[in-house]
Amino acid sequence: EKGTYSHFMLKEIDEQPFVMRRIIQEYQDEHDQLKLDQDIRGAMKACDRIYIIAAGTSYHAGLVGKQFLEKMAGIPVEVHVASEFSYNMPLLSEKPLFVFISQSGETADSRSVLVKIKEMGHPALTMTNVPGSTLSREADYTLHLHAGPEIAVASTKAYTAQIAVLAILAVDTAQAKDLELDFDPMQELAIVANAMEVLTDQKEAIETLVRENLGTTRNAFFIGRGTDYFVCLEGALKLKEISYIQAEGFAGGELKHGTIALIEDGTPVIALATQENVNYAIRSNVQEVVARGANDMVFSMKGLEQDTDAFVVRHVHELLTPLVSVVPMQLLAYYAALHRDCDVDKPRNLAKSVTVE
Ligand code: M6R
Repeated sequence: EKGTYSHFMLKEIDEQPFVMRRIIQEYQDEHDQLKLDQDIRGAMKACDRIYIIAAGTSYHAGLVGKQFLEKMAGIPVEVHVASEFSYNMPLLSEKPLFVFISQSGETADSRSVLVKIKEMGHPALTMTNVPGSTLSREADYTLHLHAGPEIAVASTKAYTAQIAVLAILAVDTAQAKDLELDFDPMQELAIVANAMEVLTDQKEAIETLVRENLGTTRNAFFIGRGTDYFVCLEGALKLKEISYIQAEGFAGGELKHGTIALIEDGTPVIALATQENVNYAIRSNVQEVVARGANDMVFSMKGLEQDTDAFVVRHVHELLTPLVSVVPMQLLAYYAALHRDCDVDKPRNLAKSVTVE
């Protein structure tokens, strides 16, 4: 039920802080210890490489999750678009573990990879919001996203839930392998939930940015480096699927290799700046596009902000910034679609779950 909300998408964006808290609760016991299935721990410890398979927004969550699993759990990870996997099948490691990320658990492209790798005898873990779904039933192990039903076609709370559960999986594996972490990830997730809550109260500011910068534009670009690049891909997907604005997310360093040719007077360029190690570099990319007439909107994080930034999110741990920086991206897409009278929850040509290959 939408309740007082005009759209499921807005309701689902607002639910994200609660989803974060629910995930923290669901995956911790009464002594604040992580309680992941022993079999999943075993599979994580036994594998020598993880292959993440997903589509769309879930693929974007996988890109973020790769960093957690590599940096915290020390396991090499490859992330693959499900529909491309069979054509570009990589040379597999000796002990691969396949991780399927899917909100619906019904995506046909992912299922065909699952069928194939099961035939080959490899283990599979599905992370899904629908535990009884096909991908969940056919895999060896399941991790529940606990996002609650997601109705809007544009995925929002499932994306942040996927990232949070991937972080928990990485932490749990690190603990199982006796690896030291120099921060308390569960506490950091709680800080993220609070930062998200602040953002859901700042809708007017985002709506104003949309009115001033995305009013009648036909295209928009999202630039970022490092983790921010992955959030740019998600921000662009969100914007195009519901507002029909042609949007592209790309790595700041790639600008000069082609895309900068498209920047002209008034072209909206959304830049993400939440990572200290790339702050200087992304800001020079912003200067490059502004010099060519772009209409810049920088979304930065407290501590890295500059006076001219369009929006500043609260400070959170550098690995977890996507959970926070994606919220204004979701809101940008929402208001852009709303202002264009688009059908926010049911965009044209799209279905909530894509059950054909
Ligand atoms: O249910 P899944 O997570 O497997 O769905 C994957 C994609 O179809 C999905 O994320 C799609 O890209 C969304 N409409 C994006 O908002």
